[in-house]
Amino acid sequence: MRKPKTSSKDRKILCIGAGYVGGPTMAVIAAKCPEYTVRVVDIDKGRIDAWNSKNLPIYEPGLDGLVEKARGRNLFFSTDVKKAIDESGIIFVSVNTPTKTFGEGAGMAADLQYWEKTARAIVECSHDDKIVIEKSTLPVRTAEAMHRILQSNNKGLNFDIISNPEFLAEGTAVRDLENPDRVLVGSMASRSGKAAAAKIADIYAHWVPREKILLTNVWSSELSKLVSNAMLAQRISSINSVSALCEKTDADIDEVAKAVGMDSRIGPKFLKAGVGFGGSCFKKDILNLVYLCRFYGLEEVAQYWSKVVEINEYQERRFVLNMIRSMFNTVAGKKIALLGFAFKADTGDTREAPAIYIARKLVEEHAEVSIYDPKAMENAKSDLKDIAGRINFARNHIECVKNTHAVAILTEWREFTTYDYRRIFDSMEKPAFIFDGRNILDRNALFKIGFNVHSIGKSPMRNI
Ligand code: UDX
Ligand code: ADP
Repeated sequence: MRKPKTSSKDRKILCIGAGYVGGPTMAVIAAKCPEYTVRVVDIDKGRIDAWNSKNLPIYEPGLDGLVEKARGRNLFFSTDVKKAIDESGIIFVSVNTPTKTFGEGAGMAADLQYWEKTARAIVECSHDDKIVIEKSTLPVRTAEAMHRILQSNNKGLNFDIISNPEFLAEGTAVRDLENPDRVLVGSMASRSGKAAAAKIADIYAHWVPREKILLTNVWSSELSKLVSNAMLAQRISSINSVSALCEKTDADIDEVAKAVGMDSRIGPKFLKAGVGFGGSCFKKDILNLVYLCRFYGLEEVAQYWSKVVEINEYQERRFVLNMIRSMFNTVAGKKIALLGFAFKADTGDTREAPAIYIARKLVEEHAEVSIYDPKAMENAKSDLKDIAGRINFARNHIECVKNTHAVAILTEWREFTTYDYRRIFDSMEKPAFIFDGRNILDRNALFKIGFNVHSIGKSPMRNI
């Protein structure tokens, strides 16, 4: 007969992977559920040391305070993965799942090697039944594979797999976790699967209203995560595609987005045209979705979602081409300042940032590029290390723009709106161009100063 589940372990939560998702999620669970013990483990000792220090490995508003309060009370960080597995009844898995860079599905499918290693470690170190929760974004039906690995144990143990995707965005992670639009808990249809889902729902119910906790089957939960990100990205590609049309027709993309977004069925969010979306999730999740559609022979559906990524790449390409064309068809030997390198404001993260492509393309065109970003300079240097000798990484915006022919805004940092653009204009070569890739500046004021102003989805304003 099966051993009954050790109930004391139901209050012992473990998270494997102390990264961007695991760290903040566990900090919030520990803060909201004082009767649970929450352990976070990682194979990266440096990361764990940082979680145990004053300088946490990631910056998120509100996170320091949460960790400081719970750490040592019911929140613990360590590298002892094996012992922690044995001692916990509920195990969140939040290890990295990058896009595969080799073999079948390279460039599209998720690389599940870390996930699989973790599943095998769980099998090896467990001596009683456990609930295992997918927290990393994973391709649909991964749970099935994981379930098979976990059930392959010859110790007679039962593992219930739950899909509980995260929806947090960078810069608002704590707020998103504390006030989620919804929490998804996907489980198998079996009795023990449903019981496991109820236990996970009970954790979130400490601070999330029950009606926002959706109990679904595992596949719906996994797919909902990919589709949410794909649809957000699709809105951005939709508005960016229309921005190209606006530039040809004298319509203004911000006016169009406002008018369209006021339709309550459409809504105003995620309709800001720009240089394209970046970040660690959107492209990866869409490519996963595309791979999944192809796997099931749904070529038309795969092509539909592929276009969202293609339009994003088109938007980045279009931005650079527009710079070249506007500057008399050549940027060779011209100095160009890029203000902003992060994929969005309020973060130093540059993963998939449009700025990477734009900087590389300008260097390829023999422009002399200089870059300034308030938070992302170290990442910018590392992203461009193979061409670092051809780029000036400036210490401040004044140094960055000095003697340049053009300034391009690539990230919507608020501080860029507060600069003295008269002074910037005076320090530049003439005619001075400004390419506002985020539509955050007052273009009429810039035009009056004397700039040639190029915005996204608006007709250019030329002094010369
Ligand atoms: C996203 C999702 O929002 C989050 O739910 C998911 O869990 C992870 O992926 P994140 O990557 O942190 O979060 O950033 P987000 O704020 O969504 O922005 C993504 C990109 O889209 C940024 O490059 C941003 O500049 C761009 N964007 C966003 C636009 O270009 N226009 C918009 O209107 C909104
Ligand atoms: P995410 O954004 O999904 O949180 P991160 O890359 O920030 O991804 O974090 C994933 C973490 O998982 C990393 O700190 C990595 O060291 C950790 N990790 C990967 N494999 C294992 C493993 N087998 N055991 C424990 N931790 C792991």
